[in-house]
Amino acid sequence: MGEHIVRALRGVSLDIEPGEFVAVTGPSGSGKSTFMHIAGCLDRPTTGQYFLDGRDVSQTSKDELARVRNEKIGFVFQGFNLLTRTSALDNVELPLLYRNKNGFKTAERHKRAMAALDAVNLGSRHHHMPNQLSGGQQQRVAIARALINEPSIILADEPTGNLDTRTSIEVMGIFQRLNRERGITVLLITHEMDIAEYGTRLIRFRDGRVVADQAVLHRRNADDELAALPPPEPDQISPPTEAAPAAQAH
Ligand SMILES: Nc1ncnc2c1ncn2[C@@H]1O[C@H](COP(=O)(O)OP(=O)(O)O)[C@@H](O)[C@H]1O
Ligand SMILES: [Mg+2]
Repeated sequence: MGEHIVRALRGVSLDIEPGEFVAVTGPSGSGKSTFMHIAGCLDRPTTGQYFLDGRDVSQTSKDELARVRNEKIGFVFQGFNLLTRTSALDNVELPLLYRNKNGFKTAERHKRAMAALDAVNLGSRHHHMPNQLSGGQQQRVAIARALINEPSIILADEPTGNLDTRTSIEVMGIFQRLNRERGITVLLITHEMDIAEYGTRLIRFRDGRVVADQAVLHRRNADDELAALPPPEPDQISPPTEAAPAAQAH
């Protein structure tokens, strides 16, 4: 930053094995997002090396990095990052459009996107716009979008930061299921301890360094917790509203 050098990460060294569910935690400004951006091939480290599937990608060109990212990594963010005025189905299909030129035909894209929406239990809402979906549903659309290229890793940066408790547990249940059933490696960033406990391993950052790296002793199980909760309120999704008629002057 101008004359001032910010060291977002310093001396971080760790290995993550396929199939792990890693929760990364730490106070604001501790380097969590920077770590995720490097792990997700969104950024390259100034110095040091990053091996992804045995390949050093620390000096890879930006185009090649984008290819690796599209092929191997799915992203989920706190703010969902869906395109507005674009249906759930089209949002989920989007990453397929960035594949090589002779990618999938329209029908195949629809089929894949529907399968991804079904995997997060949203198939019936594929035609809804983001503003017609609750926060939890929007985040599930974002997870479906992250799944569309069949990634080996999902990176989620504060995915429950904008969600209420029940919805947070539902989203964590989806990550646990994808990790368990498909063997997808999950890297979850959160500053909430109770959310971190859905993972198998906890890494804590502070001032750009790893200050703790341990197994989660009492792992939470989202499906069990959901089963024990009272049933959810009926969906409060209202149909798109027509423009209100202008007030009549008397
Ligand atoms: N693009 C940037 N330019 C300058 N400083 C940055 C940038 N991104 C992050 N930082 C700084 O690096 C440190 C780590 O930030 P970040 O990785 O975003 O932490 P966290 O996600 O844990 O809040 C912070 O001090 C932050 O201000
Ligand atoms: Mg952050």
